Amino acid sequence: MSERILICVAWPYANSRLHLGHVAGAYLPADIFARYHRAMGNEVLMISGSDIHGTPVAIRAEQEGKTPAEIAQHFHALFLEDWQKLGISWDLFTTTGTENHTRVSQNIFLELLDKGLVYKQAVTQPYCEICQRHLPDRYVEGTCPICQSPGARGDQCEQCGKPMNPSELIKAQCKLCHATPIYRESEHFFLRLSAFQDDLLAWVKTKEHWRVNVRRFTQRYLEEGLLDRAITRDIDWGIPLPLPGYPGKSLYVWFEAVIGYLSAAIEWAKSQGTPDAWQNFWHDGQAQAYYFIGKDNIPFHTIVWPAILMGYGSLGLPYDVPANEFLTIESQKFSKSRNLAIWVHDFLSRYEADPLRYLLSVNMPESSDADFSWREFVRRNNDELVATYGNLVQRVLSFTYTRFNGAVPTPETLDSDSEALLAKAETTVIMVGRFLEGCRFKEAIKEALFLAQAANRYLDDKAPWKAIKDDAASAATSLYTAIGVISALKTIFYPFLPHSSQRLHEYLGFDGAVSKAGWRLVIPAAGQALKPPHILFAKLEEGVVAAEQERMGIYGS
Ligand code: MF3
Ligand code: ZN
Repeated sequence: MSERILICVAWPYANSRLHLGHVAGAYLPADIFARYHRAMGNEVLMISGSDIHGTPVAIRAEQEGKTPAEIAQHFHALFLEDWQKLGISWDLFTTTGTENHTRVSQNIFLELLDKGLVYKQAVTQPYCEICQRHLPDRYVEGTCPICQSPGARGDQCEQCGKPMNPSELIKAQCKLCHATPIYRESEHFFLRLSAFQDDLLAWVKTKEHWRVNVRRFTQRYLEEGLLDRAITRDIDWGIPLPLPGYPGKSLYVWFEAVIGYLSAAIEWAKSQGTPDAWQNFWHDGQAQAYYFIGKDNIPFHTIVWPAILMGYGSLGLPYDVPANEFLTIESQKFSKSRNLAIWVHDFLSRYEADPLRYLLSVNMPESSDADFSWREFVRRNNDELVATYGNLVQRVLSFTYTRFNGAVPTPETLDSDSEALLAKAETTVIMVGRFLEGCRFKEAIKEALFLAQAANRYLDDKAPWKAIKDDAASAATSLYTAIGVISALKTIFYPFLPHSSQRLHEYLGFDGAVSKAGWRLVIPAAGQALKPPHILFAKLEEGVVAAEQERMGIYGS
């Protein structure tokens, strides 16, 4: 029976371009997962959008002398270009700037207010007398009281992930002018998180399938005791409170952004002409919801959002939150200012999407941080994609194409080696699927590569290019078998390498989209007409490593 899978992916702030850390952290795993489930015949809804409100976008706008709306629009359009080139297969990538999103967010706020789960309270807030403004979230920075790292923001410490109230910061400073803020009284609305402590703890205890780091972080955080959190801010750039008498206040960006998962599903359903279809993905028990995020977003997805959902009622809670760790670049922490970032559009202006997707898949920061290095990119491209997978495909298909009249050869009865290899192909398809269902992407892609290696060994052994001279029937058998394995490879590599799998699907003589071919081994029938094959992956020159390192200002490694 087909299942319903809701795939929610972190909403990137529309204040800068996408870099490889974003891709490895959330977008690629989500896309692999979605492609797999669609190929399985499951009903998938994969959604996200640009996170356009709050201080991240407002500060960038101020720095550039533009309006926040202009900044958001600019980056949203660029995100769409990047997704297209990377092959991220959204069902909807919207923004938090839609009327629909405003309405849904305001409704949830009011519903929680009505239930007493949101309440009003006067608090002291940092205020800059020089800039004459309130300093919510990123407008104030200081030292983290937990890990002591400098540059912690008023809403969260980037280093240790601690969610913050600005008053907890040590030596707080105005981000814009560096003055020490004073504290002023202001009225805000709070989410009664403390009321959910026990329910959340009981819920998390049932999540034995969660990644250890996600579970441990969440549990520790809950055991420390949940504090109620303000969900409104003194800032114009945001969704207005749906109540009279609060000019200048907006819903906190994190409160409304997570609601985007729901509002985007509603928008998607409407745009499909089936306005109720979102309920199939959202009503409790109707679907399994997965949240692909980076580890800095964990508390918002395992605590705040589930609490909002529990408070609102009747909607499904996250089934899994497979948060990834960070991707370092050439062994160093991502830093825009130090040029230690690789931007997606820049990367894809020189290289193809599939080799990038490959490297970030085999080296995904699943359970620990992972590193991107140019040396490894070139090595894996050349040794694994080109020499192992691409070469297998090339030598089998071009030889078959020229020597067997452009069609799949008719085999003799399969010998035991050939049968064993096809059986391995079949079990690999199943095994890769199991790994993908468990969000174990690295293991999944490694199995795929093992199968290509096994096929190469088989061919070295059978050497159909020699056998054809005096035993054409045995050459036909081994090529037929190899083509069967290649057909398995195009399926199991498809979620990772959708572009090359589509091409391979066509070289093998199949029509239509490879995604529609199902998650199973289909051995091309004897006599099936092949299409003239071209190489799947291009070899990269060794010089790429030095040239790219130089471009980044890294020398001699
Ligand atoms: N914009 C946030 C970030 O880039 C992620 C928001 S995820 C959401 O860290 F669910 F809240 F939207
Ligand atoms: Zn200031």
